[in-house]
Amino acid sequence: MNIFEALRESHVIQRNLAERLLQTSGDTPERRELFERLKNELFAHAVAEDRYFYIPLMMTDSGLNITRHALAEHHKMDELLEQLTETEFSNPGWLAIAKKLSETVHHHLQEEEHGFFQQAGKILLDAQKTALAKQYQQEYKKYKKIEKDSLV
Ligand SMILES: [Fe+2]
Ligand SMILES: [Fe+2]
Repeated sequence: MNIFEALRESHVIQRNLAERLLQTSGDTPERRELFERLKNELFAHAVAEDRYFYIPLMMTDSGLNITRHALAEHHKMDELLEQLTETEFSNPGWLAIAKKLSETVHHHLQEEEHGFFQQAGKILLDAQKTALAKQYQQEYKKYKKIEKDSLV
C-alpha cells in the first residue's frame, strides 16, 4: 500500500460520517455518537497526515505551497469542531455549523484527492510512498484511541 491509498481509507469514513451526521436532529444519542466518531476520525487522520505526509512534503520547495494550504484547512476544520463541541447539541444553530464542517471536509478531501496527491506523487519517491504509508497507519491507529480533548 502507498501513502495515497492509506490516506483515502480514512477519507471514505470521513465522508460517510459527515453525511450521516447531517441527517440527525436535536440532542439525540445518534447525533452524539456520530459527532464523537467524526471528531475522532478527523483528529487521528489529521495528526498522522500532517506528520507523515505534509511535513515530508514541506521539506521540498515544490511541496511548500500545497502544504501551507492543506494545513490551513486542517486548522479551519479544527475550529469548526471546537465550535460544535462548545455548542449544545439541542441548539438550533448546531446543524448549520455541522453543515459548514461537512462542506469544508468535502472540499478539502476533493482538493487532496484531485490535486495535492497528484502533485505529491511527482515529488515523493516510490520507496517513500510505501514507508510513509506504514508510518501514517501506525500514527493514525494510535490517535484513533485518544480523545482530542485529552491532549489540550
Ligand atoms: Fe486527508
Ligand atoms: Fe487533510
